[in-house]
Amino acid sequence: MNPLANELNDALDKSHAGVFLSSLGRRLFFPKGIIAQAAEAKKTARINATLGMAFKDRKPLILSPLAKHFPGLLPEEIVVYAPTAGIEALRNTQKAALIRKNSCLKEGDFSLPVVVPGITAGISYIADLFLDKGQVILAGDPSWDNYSLIFSERREAILKGIALFSVDVPGNDDVPNKVGVFNIDAFENALKEEAKTGQVRIILNFPHNPSGYTLLKTEAEKLIALINDCAEGGASVLVICDDAYFGLFYEDETINESLFGPLAALHERVLAVKIDGPTKEDYVWGLRTGFVSIGSKGLDISGYEALEKKLMGAIRSSVSCANTPAQYLALKTWEDPATTADKEAFFSLLCRRYRTVKQFIAENPPPSSVLETLPFNSGYFMCFRCKAGLGAEELRQALLKKGIGTIALEDKYLRVTFAAIEEEEIPEVYRVIYGTASELAALREICP
Ligand SMILES: Cc1ncc(COP(=O)(O)O)c(C=O)c1O
Repeated sequence: MNPLANELNDALDKSHAGVFLSSLGRRLFFPKGIIAQAAEAKKTARINATLGMAFKDRKPLILSPLAKHFPGLLPEEIVVYAPTAGIEALRNTQKAALIRKNSCLKEGDFSLPVVVPGITAGISYIADLFLDKGQVILAGDPSWDNYSLIFSERREAILKGIALFSVDVPGNDDVPNKVGVFNIDAFENALKEEAKTGQVRIILNFPHNPSGYTLLKTEAEKLIALINDCAEGGASVLVICDDAYFGLFYEDETINESLFGPLAALHERVLAVKIDGPTKEDYVWGLRTGFVSIGSKGLDISGYEALEKKLMGAIRSSVSCANTPAQYLALKTWEDPATTADKEAFFSLLCRRYRTVKQFIAENPPPSSVLETLPFNSGYFMCFRCKAGLGAEELRQALLKKGIGTIALEDKYLRVTFAAIEEEEIPEVYRVIYGTASELAALREICP
């Protein structure tokens, strides 16, 4: 083991954070090599001959067409390598924004966010740090399909699904306007079962992909209390909050802040990780910028610094650093006063589409023998559960032949991205889905 890795492990073993480190997580460190020496030279050297970049007249060389296509950025904001943990101003701005958007988050409750090239990368790095082969990570079922690729395939961990919605809860069937049949009992059982091993790892994602569900305030309180119970009972609990769709809350009954806020200050044995970014929040899907923030009552500054170095080791050894112009573009976009008005307009657009879908389904329930609407109240998506032997994939393919693109998941769920449908086209899309599902069911009856 490298002595620098050992130093970080010693710092983390003083808190419960050390409990979660995977074997890769234990080996990772941030070398005092090129990047660290260059950062030192940048502060003090008169002539800087460190990093592998080329300068003329103290400015980085830049191709003129490239400079032309980034008219709002300086050459050093386009072609110079960004620091491994991200541009300082962007990190500070994100920290301030998290405090502003989450009323119970305080400055000292969490680390300075580390910049990663998108939320996916952040999840993958946290899995590198905290998840070993054969270890269990809990997630809502259904969940974003990339979790299985990251946790099961890359890390060889066991992704255990928790049935997100209870089919047995009275009123779950075909009550499209009713929000709130979240399966808290299944979460309780899964958390208690895992807590028996002494370690719980769970990823939470609200607003949720694929269902479009966000916890009601009462449900969030119960879930936080359950996590607290696990920690009180002696288990160490790692909670990863995948906040990809943060901010897209459409109903008063739901939480409108991240669970990371209460979790970061909950208990010495709860390690909370928030992974978020402008991808969906700021409608910049291809910009590839995300953040990882860590909060725990059991961590002090030296613990946060050790985790930051571990994360920097994961970044340095994979992509080296996140994209520089993307970080400056995100920062300048946030600082531009026009952003607020644009975001409000985009939010209203998505909210209108959400309400149109809700209203259409309320007035025109799906054919209940074959389709059941999963609860949804936020985000980009809603889902139908296919019933009575109807396969989601055969439905998807039949819809595609009629010009409607949807997503089939586990051959059980049909995900519809209402965020992407023009408002006036929503009734047509849903009528075609209903009609096609009924046709396929009728065909099945004729030729079983
Ligand atoms: C739940 C969830 N997490 C993370 C991501 C990935 O975000 P990014 O594009 O920033 O990697 C997505 C994108 O679809 C998502 O749905």
